[in-house]
Amino acid sequence: MKVVLFFLSIVGIIFSGCKSDKLTMATAANFAPFEYISGGEFQGIDIDVAKIIASELGKELVISDMEFDSVVQSVASKNADIALSGLTINKTRKQVIDFSDTYFNAAQMLIIKENDERFKNLKTKEDVIKAVNKAKSLKIGVQAGTTGEFYSKGDKDWGFDGFKNAETISFANGAMAVTAMLNNQLDVVIIDEMPARVLTKTNSGVELVDIALTDEEYAIAVSKGNEELLNKINEILRTIKQDGRMQDIINKYYVQQK
Ligand code: ARG
Repeated sequence: MKVVLFFLSIVGIIFSGCKSDKLTMATAANFAPFEYISGGEFQGIDIDVAKIIASELGKELVISDMEFDSVVQSVASKNADIALSGLTINKTRKQVIDFSDTYFNAAQMLIIKENDERFKNLKTKEDVIKAVNKAKSLKIGVQAGTTGEFYSKGDKDWGFDGFKNAETISFANGAMAVTAMLNNQLDVVIIDEMPARVLTKTNSGVELVDIALTDEEYAIAVSKGNEELLNKINEILRTIKQDGRMQDIINKYYVQQK
């Protein structure tokens, strides 16, 4: 019996030792250029930033890929140490997780079918909103759990009025929404700017309405009250912003509009 207990405790020590050597990152790798899988590897801006953070902390990065609407919960319940997922700072999310300093400014944008006259020659955000509200029985595709979904449906906590006359349809990711639009199941897609640029570049038959609809900031999430990790992350972010590494990473993945 003693031998068994001894053995079990050794296993326990080894196991807990291993655990603290790892930095687990929650993400939804369906959001190029921030996180996606290519050639069987995780790639993107968030992945490169997370790799630097892990190496600065002397830990092995373990990426846990999931649906976007599980990312915040995964950190909140401490199943993951951090989340990098093009995650927008928001007060509702702040109730369950803590955010680092911001590392990227973002906005929602509209993807439309090429030559959709209803959305041509728009200049301002107000023009876009007017055009969406004017369209009859419009179907808007969004990614589930994202700002785009709250923006389209309307949400008091996020401060979005929403498009009351339109129907918002949620998809697991932006690519699926764009495919549905190309199959005439949707009229438009609302998604974050950089992914919108990638999607319009990689799909023929769609175009971007290059007008920012929201004003958002991406940040890294840690579990609530994990100040030690948060301070370290903020310090690393400060360093890589100052020494140009952050900009290099963004440039590496930057996509020009088609
Ligand atoms: N910025 C948006 C949000 O925080 C969308 C993020 C989606 N990220 C992803 N990896 N799919 O809600």
